[in-house]
Amino acid sequence: MPQEEEIMAIKVSENGRLFTLQTKDSSYQMFADDKNVLLHLYYGEKIGEENLSGLIFCTDMGFAGNPEEAGPNRKYSLDTLPQEIPGSGVGDFRDDMIEIRHADGSFAADFRFDSYEILDHSYAIPGMPALYDTEEEKGETLVITMTEKASDIVLKLFYGVFENENVITRAARLENHGETAIELEKMLSFSMDLMYENYEMIYFSGRHAMERTAERIPVQHAKVEIGSTRGTSSHHYNPAVILCEEGAGETHGSCIGACLVYSGNFVAAAQKDQKNQTRFQMGIHPTNFCFHLEKGEAFDTPQAILSYSGTGLTKLSQQYHEIIREHICRGAYKHAKRPILINNWEATYFDFNEEKILKIAEQAQKLGIEMLVLDDGWFGKREDDNSGLGDWFVNEKKMNGSMAQLAEKIHKMGMKFGLWFEPEMVNKDSNLYREHPDWILSTPGRHISHGRNQYILDFSRAEVVDAIYGQMEKILEDAPISYIKWDMNRCMSEVYSHTASAADQGKVMHQYILGVYRLYEKLTGRFPEILFESCASGGSRFDPGLLYYAPQAWTSDDTDAVERCKIQYGTSLVYPVSSMGSHVSAVPNHQVLRNTSLKMRADVAYFGTFGYELNPNSLTEAEREAIKKQTAFMKEHRSLIQYGTFYRLQSPFAGNEMAWMVVSEDKKEAIVGWYRFLEPINIGYRSVRLQGLDPKLPYQISNMEMALYGDELMQAGLIVSDVASGQNPEQYNGENGDFQSRLYLLKAKEE
Ligand code: GLA
Repeated sequence: MPQEEEIMAIKVSENGRLFTLQTKDSSYQMFADDKNVLLHLYYGEKIGEENLSGLIFCTDMGFAGNPEEAGPNRKYSLDTLPQEIPGSGVGDFRDDMIEIRHADGSFAADFRFDSYEILDHSYAIPGMPALYDTEEEKGETLVITMTEKASDIVLKLFYGVFENENVITRAARLENHGETAIELEKMLSFSMDLMYENYEMIYFSGRHAMERTAERIPVQHAKVEIGSTRGTSSHHYNPAVILCEEGAGETHGSCIGACLVYSGNFVAAAQKDQKNQTRFQMGIHPTNFCFHLEKGEAFDTPQAILSYSGTGLTKLSQQYHEIIREHICRGAYKHAKRPILINNWEATYFDFNEEKILKIAEQAQKLGIEMLVLDDGWFGKREDDNSGLGDWFVNEKKMNGSMAQLAEKIHKMGMKFGLWFEPEMVNKDSNLYREHPDWILSTPGRHISHGRNQYILDFSRAEVVDAIYGQMEKILEDAPISYIKWDMNRCMSEVYSHTASAADQGKVMHQYILGVYRLYEKLTGRFPEILFESCASGGSRFDPGLLYYAPQAWTSDDTDAVERCKIQYGTSLVYPVSSMGSHVSAVPNHQVLRNTSLKMRADVAYFGTFGYELNPNSLTEAEREAIKKQTAFMKEHRSLIQYGTFYRLQSPFAGNEMAWMVVSEDKKEAIVGWYRFLEPINIGYRSVRLQGLDPKLPYQISNMEMALYGDELMQAGLIVSDVASGQNPEQYNGENGDFQSRLYLLKAKEE
């Protein structure tokens, strides 16, 4: 065990039974009581290390089961105590965390404290992504071992602490040391009972092309639960939730965030119990999940990242941005400026050939764009979405030669080259399916649903993953590819693996995700210089699990600037600007047919990885000139935008305007983005209070004749008052009106 002084964040006292995890601004406390029940005592603002079990207020509650023999303590009930690991079937009637069916058919899980261990580094989870240590910051780990008296099942609880980001992680591993097999029917990543606070839950709901809208609901005695059983983390809910104190806002109120480092089915729930404690839980969704564990086998949950802020959502978001950028994202692009790319999807859809692509690249290069991404349709027999998936070899007729030749032509123009893949899918009209019809997930004797005419390859099988890897490796070895967009365009149904035994079918959805991670691991290991962008019909797998392999994700298939304000704003609650794929597309926008100015489209897309998704040859000369300025602007400011500290200032869900800003680490530079959807008239004074500036520094503001001090900009605000276009005809330049945006560049003046 490491020396006391080496371990700063994990404090253990009272004979090794009281555990307090300390981060910069938060504390988390647990205590193993005299019956070895692991109690949850506190998670919140930083406090000392006194035992808080005095906060527990036990009474003899009728109908709350009592584990003791008659007599001694009728107040002691698992049904009312605040717990870390609620068991099942043994007297706690709230939602459990682990459900086990034993060989004799009984259901029960009752884990009690056994021992602990402290590690001076972060823990890893076999086959799954997790926060990792860097030279700048190492995590610490507390491992608590719990055992069951009635069985030989061992539960290991992992608590990771990252002090600076106010992050505590949780994960668990269940080992079957018994002689007989068990069925693990549910196992979440964490559970905790919060004793006194009244919470609201913020969660992210959505749909295809409108992902991650933050919604908020009070946590009461009816359960608040969200999740996905679609096989992806999903458009519909994101595996991230926030429990905040009633009325908490961007800059005030306590908030506890939880997000799951996982890309498949998940559940997150909060519910008050009869004593008004809130049980908060998250993990893999128990639907379609059942892990058969033979003697000696184990199951590991994905990791949940918990973070606490005592001063509102902005701080919580910044902590998530930091931990994701520094301890989730990996690879050559972790800190690198993301290339400005042009993607041909909305420019051509499937209707392209080599000539069209080269023309796009040629024009894009003149506009300052750095990379051409060839989207869906370059491979196999893929002229529309009925065929071709699974055949990852170039359609030489369409592309007029090999991939290497095409890549070379694009490189010669001074552009990088990227490619689209959808590795997990197959069309029935493909060589791969004709050769291996049993490689798809499909339940025998049932109709097999398709989604977009495609079927899902059984990534729970190693040979399937290896075969797809082989095809991709060949393309990537033959041609210089700098970027891969890895897509996944349907949800899972009729899930059944043709090689798994009946007993193991309940593992398939999880093992599928492990297969996805394995392919990512193999590809990123073999081709470390390639930048990966994940995608799943836009943002159906925008989660920390995939950000471990692909540091950016296509945020949404909706590229309209107004819709994107909402989508990127919601996404920013948890995910950093550097992770959000965002492109300027043509007007009328293809999804909603809205016309917005080229300026607004760029002003929104700058707050992401930035690129274009249009045909540059269809633009006017004036538009091309404007785009040259946009790419130059982004090149100058992308480090600040993608890696600066991000603040939300005005919500697009609250009214007609939206504002956000980024501030450099030294606070000497900032960029404010301000957006208005419909133009009003005579609406009076308006200003936006800025954040994160140095109160004592004077800032010169672009587009304005004035300089103001940081404190003035943060307290009095940045004036955004204006008159309607019709009231100012002399200055009307065609850019006013609806769908307006402004960028304000702030630079600290030398005093
Ligand atoms: C998905 C993606 C799009 C595009 C198409 C191609 O919908 O989200 O960006 O790549 O697939 O088929």
